[in-house]
Amino acid sequence: MEQTKVILADHEIPKQWYNIQADLPKPMSPPLHPGTGKPVGPEDLSPIFPMNLIEQEVSQERWIDIPGEVLEKYLIWRPSPLCRARNFEKLLDAPVKIYYKNEGTSPAGSHKPNTAIPQAYYNKVFGVKRLSTETGAGQWGSALAMACQMFGLELRVFMVKVSYEQKPYRRMMMNTWGAECIPSPSDRTEAGRQVLAEHPDSPGSLGIAISEAVEDAVSRADSRYSLGSVLNHVLLHQTIIGLEAEKQLEKIGVYPDVVIGCAGGGSNFAWIALPFVRDRIHGKKVRIVGAEPASCPTMTRGPFAYDFGDLAKKTPLLPMYTLGHDYVPAPIHAGGLRYHGMAPIISHLVREGLIEATAYDQLETFEAGVRWARTEGFIPAPETNHAIAAVVAEARRAKEEGKERTILFNFSGHGLVDLAAYDAYLSGKLTPYQLPDEEIQRALRAIESFPKP
Ligand SMILES: Cc1ncc(COP(=O)(O)O)c(C=O)c1O
Repeated sequence: MEQTKVILADHEIPKQWYNIQADLPKPMSPPLHPGTGKPVGPEDLSPIFPMNLIEQEVSQERWIDIPGEVLEKYLIWRPSPLCRARNFEKLLDAPVKIYYKNEGTSPAGSHKPNTAIPQAYYNKVFGVKRLSTETGAGQWGSALAMACQMFGLELRVFMVKVSYEQKPYRRMMMNTWGAECIPSPSDRTEAGRQVLAEHPDSPGSLGIAISEAVEDAVSRADSRYSLGSVLNHVLLHQTIIGLEAEKQLEKIGVYPDVVIGCAGGGSNFAWIALPFVRDRIHGKKVRIVGAEPASCPTMTRGPFAYDFGDLAKKTPLLPMYTLGHDYVPAPIHAGGLRYHGMAPIISHLVREGLIEATAYDQLETFEAGVRWARTEGFIPAPETNHAIAAVVAEARRAKEEGKERTILFNFSGHGLVDLAAYDAYLSGKLTPYQLPDEEIQRALRAIESFPKP
């Protein structure tokens, strides 16, 4: 019988995360202090994050040990299975083998607990009592709610309003795990009140919600802020998935030609990309493709520039592909991909030509997701559908070229809490969205005067 799943035993779980900084052919530009224009130091970040996570943020060590208490929690569901999508392959009728890592098997339903658990752990060890964060679709907020509960921390989540309304079940998950969840923009913070005064009907955005969460954290001595994507230490934690995938593929003697992930802030894409980018740097022939929404085309239509991570300019200036910090993406259903910027690590690798980027309209992504659900069974998260659309595009190309291809992609989460989005798609209520150039130009004017990387 041919092997469909590769499962690692508990003792085979990777014991270290991989830090790409140690292998970059060219170093990344540093984050800048917006006041001085100088690189930010660990002290600048200390009101926002605990020092043990700041150390990881700036570390150049290639391997970083995963603490025993974090491994213990990971083992609740990790190592996650690596599966072959034979039924989807049959449907596509192309010369491709498709493997995927199923991150929908985590208790919160996505890859987000891979960093939520270490972040809660390091904050606890540092003596922090309470965290605040933002969430788009609610995947990150619910993952952090679970992690905070595990380590005895309080949590307040600012959830992008359009998702709060479209996805009430994730709010209920957060409440079940003991967290407080508030729709953003809210009247709890100065940043939120300012947006509401100008745009009372604002659907919210991750940029606004981040401003609210940072303001909330820095206003209390017992609190710190936690981010679910974009930052170096978040991407570091997600490499556990790619490291597992490498071991699993090795067991069956397979190496991918193409590696694919959907990209919002870049964290789940990083899981898959970074260990394979290291191979590429060392001469292996592997293509790495990030799939983003056409309505928020950060890597495909934005410039590489210094920009703030949030609307209220509370973060350092980050070197990244960006659509401008005041860009409010259309309220598409893949809430987790509605972010104006891209992780500096991923941005750097795109710029260096080590990673490719593509963009898909939400209709195309739901079409791919429904075809997946009708063959492989698992209903994907709307974000994950972007990766599946990229897999379909690769298969089509392989068929046209008559070349065999082995594809590995990240199934970043299940969509069982996103069924309203499927309902909208199946009843013909979703429309294609073409982002006008003028809208990007308008948002980019906000960063014209910033330093250039
Ligand atoms: C299932 C799923 N996939 C992907 C993403 C995108 O985030 P990132 O680019 O950080 O992986 C999210 C974000 O919420 C998500 O919930």
